[in-house]
Amino acid sequence: MCGIAGYLGFREAYPIVINGLQRLEYRGYDSAGIVLVNENKLTIHKTKGKVSDLKELVINKNTEANLALGHTRWATHGIPNDINSHPHVSNSGNLVIVHNGIIENYNTLKKELLTRGYTFQSETDTEVLVNLIEEVKTRKNCKLGKAVQLALKSVVGAYAIAVVDVNATDEVIVARLGSPIAIGIGANNSEFFVASDASPFIEYTKDAVYLEDGELAIIKKEEDIVIRKINDDSIVEPDIQELQLNLEQIEKGGYDHFMLKEIHEQPNAILDTYRGRLLADQDIIKMGSVDNNIAKFLNAKRIIIVACGTSWHAGLVAEYLFEDLARIPVEVEYASEFRYRNPIINKDDVVIAISQSGETADTLAAIKLAKSHGAFVFGVCNVVGSSIARETDTGAYTHAGPEIGVASTKAFTTQITVLTLIALKLGNLKGELSNSQFHKYIQEMSLIPSKVAETLKVNAIVEEIAAIYKDAPNCLYLGRGYNFPVALEGALKLKEISYIHAEGYPAAEMKHGPIALIDESMPVVVIATKKGHYDKVVSNIQEIKSRKGKIIAVVTEGDTIVKDLADHTIEIPFSEEAFTPLLATIPLQLLSYHIAVMRGCNVDQPRNLAKSVTVE
Ligand code: AGP
Repeated sequence: MCGIAGYLGFREAYPIVINGLQRLEYRGYDSAGIVLVNENKLTIHKTKGKVSDLKELVINKNTEANLALGHTRWATHGIPNDINSHPHVSNSGNLVIVHNGIIENYNTLKKELLTRGYTFQSETDTEVLVNLIEEVKTRKNCKLGKAVQLALKSVVGAYAIAVVDVNATDEVIVARLGSPIAIGIGANNSEFFVASDASPFIEYTKDAVYLEDGELAIIKKEEDIVIRKINDDSIVEPDIQELQLNLEQIEKGGYDHFMLKEIHEQPNAILDTYRGRLLADQDIIKMGSVDNNIAKFLNAKRIIIVACGTSWHAGLVAEYLFEDLARIPVEVEYASEFRYRNPIINKDDVVIAISQSGETADTLAAIKLAKSHGAFVFGVCNVVGSSIARETDTGAYTHAGPEIGVASTKAFTTQITVLTLIALKLGNLKGELSNSQFHKYIQEMSLIPSKVAETLKVNAIVEEIAAIYKDAPNCLYLGRGYNFPVALEGALKLKEISYIHAEGYPAAEMKHGPIALIDESMPVVVIATKKGHYDKVVSNIQEIKSRKGKIIAVVTEGDTIVKDLADHTIEIPFSEEAFTPLLATIPLQLLSYHIAVMRGCNVDQPRNLAKSVTVE
């Protein structure tokens, strides 16, 4: 949940690391810090607040250094303040560390170190770790790499760390378990970059190594990096990958916020996600990871979907897709509940884990649990090389590109795109979908990117509606069938970026309670598309109207009935019911966005949230 960035080489390290932290700020932004290592001297600047506050702090200070480590924090142990922010230094002042993750047994380790005379400035688990490393280094009289390795053997928890010794300023040690770390390699080992993801160094090098769980890397100037397994010290051949990322992708592209940019990127993101998979001219859906395991899918007694937040909502849409199109029973589980619920998992179950970041701790744990019961686990992830992508047996990437805004948008629609392709393929192979039905769906799916682009044209109307309801204290979202999960997702978007309390409900469920909330001050967003229990939704709208609720209806273009009933209508293109989530979610994303902007909220970095939740 924090961001780490570091540089060792010939360039000025400060600007590289500070820019890197700015790009990683979506990972956590309650305090920031940097250590500059120059002529065997550590100079630390750290502060509560954002990277911009850190830059303020360093103005007019000497930042000369070719080695630096930086950190942007999402507090877990110790409140956000200057002392608890990273980097942390060992008692001797020789070792310095930045850390992303949680050391669960830090209290036990701390007690032991206290008995050995160590003292602690902060409340953090990280300061305990750097002193543990120091203790091992002193007692074993060994090199830093060995000391880090030995120290980590007694650590329980998750970590991505970078450590430097002031007496060895041509070396950085990095290690990971559970939290991601990437190493960027400059030409001829002339320089090295370490970071939580590749965004801080993509303009400097395209060669990157993603450390695996339980690995440690020794990075020395002008030498090949050495990777060792922490447990058995065995050497690992570095897997240098060529980065596909480009700078433009991670800049705002002229939009005011990453979230708005990412909402408008959805037509291309969906296209990129089914590129090479949906061959509409041949009526074929080709997905290697599904094709190679088709028997597992076709013989699955049950599909269990595990995920969190927005990804869980995509899972709920998939439940409708798999049961409706492929007649496979599905259970959708909150990963955080599933991992502790002692669930029944059978060997012939297929478990699908959905995660944008690929780093969500609860989802990762749910995967490990399912694998330990012998289930086949298929991942749907957006971040290439992420922990979940590596932990699952196989999977399919959504090609949404980097999603920087904390509120997930294009990841949601591309997750649904992948799951729709799988459901259609299985439905046809199982004979649940005739070839003509399959053909119809494939042709319709190939039109979705242009229909999403068409739907994005409602932006101005939605902005007008947002201006009317921006001060509403509450909001209800209603949908039926495939659109029930979309109602949940719409409510989540409004909650997480505008801080307005909102709830999503199956439209019919309203009469069993929530209807009591309805009066002239309650805006109710209703998804009333033509395909999907339309008549029933119309009567739900009349029930709201008769209680003076303010109705914002998402309807199929050309709708006249709801138009006469609702206070505001947002028209979207016609689509098959199974595809309406891909269209109906767009106006809801835009509504939450505009309301949040009008309320002056930090849309890309909403309070109390982080982009990937790597602790439970
Ligand atoms: C959604 O906007 C939120 N950022 C959050 O609910 C998110 O979907 C959840 O934390 C799951 O993240 P993941 O997809 O990266 O696993």
